Amino acid sequence: MGVRIFGTGSYIPEKVLTNFDFQNMVDTSDEWIRTRTGIVERHIAPPEMSSGDMAISAARRALAMAGLQGSDISAVIVATTTPDHVFPNTASLVQVAIGAENAFGFDLSAACSGMIYSLELAYSLLLQKKYRYVLLCGAEKLSSITNYEDRNTCVLFGDGAGAVILGRCDDDNSGQLASDLHINGDYEDILKLPAGGSRNPATHETVEQKRHTIHMQGKETFKLAVNAMAGACKAVLDESGVDVGDLKLVIPHQANKRIIEAVAHRINVRDDQLFINVDKYGNTSAASIPICLDEAFRSGRLQRGDMALMVAFGAGLTWGAQLIRV
Ligand code: UT7
Repeated sequence: MGVRIFGTGSYIPEKVLTNFDFQNMVDTSDEWIRTRTGIVERHIAPPEMSSGDMAISAARRALAMAGLQGSDISAVIVATTTPDHVFPNTASLVQVAIGAENAFGFDLSAACSGMIYSLELAYSLLLQKKYRYVLLCGAEKLSSITNYEDRNTCVLFGDGAGAVILGRCDDDNSGQLASDLHINGDYEDILKLPAGGSRNPATHETVEQKRHTIHMQGKETFKLAVNAMAGACKAVLDESGVDVGDLKLVIPHQANKRIIEAVAHRINVRDDQLFINVDKYGNTSAASIPICLDEAFRSGRLQRGDMALMVAFGAGLTWGAQLIRV
């Protein structure tokens, strides 16, 4: 028995914010954003659209690709840092919208590493016979927590959602080949949303000080991200004994093209193996890897039986890699 991906889907809101749009908002330039991050544009959800709405659209597309109904799903996991509400969880909104009447579910908070963590859970759950198909969503409305007066962060983030359905299959070769997951709270201050939780509940002051938006020490985060992601990639390659040259695709979290290229360089990934779409969407946190997966399947860059390495890094710090045969 193996576990494979049966369907993927994504949802990208229509509205585009280009680098040139930012030139009218903060002291920045298309040239700076392109050369420092590789981002050209990002998509922004309309005010009335939530992360849950985007997750639902992505989930429906994944169900359609898989040829499944909502009632076939045993578990719904939504990785997000921008849930619709503190409670109820966003997973329950997805569950009811797709009619997953036989599922349990929850939200997973691991920032940009959400999909890497979710995959670990999905592969573990599917070892148990009572779970048949698991729906993973990564959904973010980062525009709802972005300070559009802070040039250090506002140019980086975008909105979107991706979904992946995994299930058991007869092919013993399909499944998780290796994983390497980490969490380390030593650096919790370098990337955070300072207010709005029980530590600093919302007050007029926290709103005025824009403490409900992303605060990031970019340079520090950059260095930690490259080291952590390269380390996790090496760990899964070592554990599995897979040669990096035999991977069909390497799908890194899309935060910054320079981070992606630095990691790829350290583990000797060829250009044709590297999946990059940060130019189109910016950093969509937990949504970035499932959006990439969906694009990779739909474009034929990833096909059943291929080996893919996914790797991410995010606030927490959280980071990790998954090496799978899809
Ligand atoms: O999703 C996972 C977590 N996030 C990440 O992985 C992101 C990690 N960090 C990064 O991607 C990069 O550090 C940034 C893109 C955020 C910044 O790039 P950098 O090469 O590290 O630039 P820097 O922070 O060293 O800033 C260089 C200069 C600074 O000016 P001074 O102090 O040298 O005068 C910044 O104020 O660039 C300035 N700067 C900008 N200039 C124009 C920062 N943002 C901008 C901007 N436009 N948007």
